[in-house]
Amino acid sequence: MNITQHTKGTPTAAVDCAVVFLRDGQRPPKAIDAATDGLISDLIEKKEWNGRPGESLILHRPHGLKAPRLMLVGGAKKWDPRTAFESAAHAARAAVRCGKHISLEIENTALTRPIVEGFIFGNGNSDEHKTAGQRPSIESLTVCVTARSTKIARDIDRARISAEATNQARRVINLPPNSLGPVELADLATDLGTKAGMDVEVFDEHRLRELGFGAHLAVGQGSLRPPRLVRLSWSPNRADAQRHLFLVGKGITFDSGGLSLKTASQMETMKYDMAGAATMLAAMIAIAQLRLPMRVTALLALAENMPSGTAMRPGDIVRALNGKTIEILNTDAEGRLVLADALAHAVNLGATHIIDAATLTGAVSVALGDVNAGLLTNSVPFANGLVAAGTQAGERYWRLPMDDDYLAPMRGEFSDLRNSSANRKAGTITAAKFLEQFVGGVPWIHLDIAGVGWAEKNRADRCSGATGHSVRTLIRFVEALSGRS
Ligand code: BES
Ligand code: MN
Ligand code: ZN
Repeated sequence: MNITQHTKGTPTAAVDCAVVFLRDGQRPPKAIDAATDGLISDLIEKKEWNGRPGESLILHRPHGLKAPRLMLVGGAKKWDPRTAFESAAHAARAAVRCGKHISLEIENTALTRPIVEGFIFGNGNSDEHKTAGQRPSIESLTVCVTARSTKIARDIDRARISAEATNQARRVINLPPNSLGPVELADLATDLGTKAGMDVEVFDEHRLRELGFGAHLAVGQGSLRPPRLVRLSWSPNRADAQRHLFLVGKGITFDSGGLSLKTASQMETMKYDMAGAATMLAAMIAIAQLRLPMRVTALLALAENMPSGTAMRPGDIVRALNGKTIEILNTDAEGRLVLADALAHAVNLGATHIIDAATLTGAVSVALGDVNAGLLTNSVPFANGLVAAGTQAGERYWRLPMDDDYLAPMRGEFSDLRNSSANRKAGTITAAKFLEQFVGGVPWIHLDIAGVGWAEKNRADRCSGATGHSVRTLIRFVEALSGRS
């Protein structure tokens, strides 16, 4: 999307539709009310316009405007990065009916970034595979502000990179599992990573065997499509040599559950079980495009979890990269197996900080729904920085406890660890305690995005399918860690 700044006011913007936010209890901007002969004031007075979130109204041929349409878009009373993002996303979804060239008035320019991000996000759709009835998309956005500023230009630039990375993640996650297996995802990551200027390396199944990725290989062995581990590294010259952040993503391109087979309905959406990997890939692309002065490496742990004559069995004992033995009691607890090896590999490569993102447990949806992502950590100060970045990006995280008592159910009877506990209690936490056994004390944050990563239905502000949750937060967090303000 082409984005420009316009400082002469909404009435003079030559676009198909001029969008103005008008929230609950807000007075219309004077120039807009005048351009519509006080019509907006009337609508408010007669309570035909309330300005609530999800509300929008198109007025045709407002005589004082150059644009042939004016669209009002509501929003929450509390205008913060999240509500501004959601309203802007709603604005894009509603305005696309009006044409390809849209203007958006931004009064509170402190929120320029989430607003532009929301608009680009809202312009994204999941219609790629429809041959008819695809949603059209907006080609240009004119941002109307009162004075030209380099800060606004910079915010717009960062917003574009960050939101386009988010939409890229959504498209990749939405790809059907027949066209995207571990090999295809590794090829795609290689292509995108190389183009963004990163160093890329892919381990195939033979290399994984040589190096001792026994847990990852066990997950992949039931599928005709072999597993892969992708490493993408961004190491700019100006980076602090003392710090090396690792972003580890769960990339199960389809999770059938394996021999501990899921039910038909549980399997329907399991192509999004690689959302963690796609999230880290997208964040890396943005980090490289923003040229952030920080050493960052992503590890994408890719496999397809299938039942077959070669599949791992309940009762199998495997040896992870760090030497720990794991009894596989439930083949559907595969995410923690691929992550175990990838986390241990990150430690071996000298990670000073690790963040992983994974659609790890159904239990996180029981606890937090699709509102907050689950966050679990061995370093609360480190995690507080990510939560703060989330607040700026408009994405929510809720930290769950990590008492050592939660490790007890994951201790093995015949091995060091077991991959699933005897009961379902505190499933998100016991999974995180399992992962913690592979980070070797390095400051680490685990993001369980199973609940927030997928939207069942269309909503005013987003289409159904992958949400791209956490891409924008991770970018913001790395910006902060690298000292960019
Ligand atoms: N990929 C699933 C988790 C999941 C469930 C993501 C629903 C999105 C929606 C994961 O591999 C899994 O199957 N977890 C099991 C773990 C259990 C067997 C210990 C679960 O949550 O039931
Ligand atoms: Mn599973
Ligand atoms: Zn899974």
